[in-house]
Amino acid sequence: MKNLFITATDTDAGKTFVACALTKVLINAGKKVAVYKPISAGCQLEDGQLVNEDAQLLSQFANSGQSIQEINPIAFLEPIAPHIAAEKANRKISMDEVIQGYNQVTATSADIAITEGAGGWRLPLTLNKKSNIFLSDFAKASQQDVILVVNMKLGCLNHALLTYEMIKADGLNCLGWIANNASNEPMNNLTENIDSLTQLLPVPQIAQLRYFNEEHLSLSEKINLAANQINISPLLTTPA
Ligand SMILES: Nc1ncnc2c1ncn2[C@@H]1O[C@H](COP(=O)(O)OP(=O)(O)OP(=O)(O)O)[C@@H](O)[C@H]1O
Ligand SMILES: [Mg+2]
Repeated sequence: MKNLFITATDTDAGKTFVACALTKVLINAGKKVAVYKPISAGCQLEDGQLVNEDAQLLSQFANSGQSIQEINPIAFLEPIAPHIAAEKANRKISMDEVIQGYNQVTATSADIAITEGAGGWRLPLTLNKKSNIFLSDFAKASQQDVILVVNMKLGCLNHALLTYEMIKADGLNCLGWIANNASNEPMNNLTENIDSLTQLLPVPQIAQLRYFNEEHLSLSEKINLAANQINISPLLTTPA
């Protein structure tokens, strides 16, 4: 099984948008895709269960018949930093729990597992005097290949480079990056910034996604359009 971890320069950068588009294009290529959103903060209560929008959207796109709870085992009501949400709920997020959920996802018959991170690369899960635990530690423990979503806005060059450098420092492969316009306001000098990232990041750019602002289209339809613009060949050629 091939395992892809979607990270980004920041929260709201388009991880879910890209993870769904990627799921779509891989399914179109004949793959069975399972999805995982280990931790979410910002949920609705539905029949006594905390349900997260990202997990719902991922579940609409994947084709492995997973339940929402399998896709997103750790969920908090408030849209705040997960380790703070956990503290307020009087609990700790354990790495074992995150890995257990992942093992369930990878135990399906899927060809590819796509994990959506939360926030950016160094998202804290648990603060300890001895050693802090980050979501990147999970990506590392599970040896996933990483895709970096860059939200094209002022400051993104620094965020993209620092994220890329940390992925490498953590010993993981970054298979490619995606330039995403997650806002209706286009970045000034977008082309020059994309050219700069192309020079600075030594991995393939697998998509350049405009902001899909068509009011008559649903979010799923916009994601389907974005899927057509992703070049998956750099993702499939690396040995699994
Ligand atoms: N290229 C795009 N065109 C249109 N809308 C987009 C695009 N990229 C992202 N969006 C929208 O921008 C918002 C933020 O994107 P998304 O939810 O994918 O970010 P995220 O990185 O997953 O955020 P989080 O850290 O909360 O998980 C969403 O409403 C999403 O539908
Ligand atoms: Mg998301």
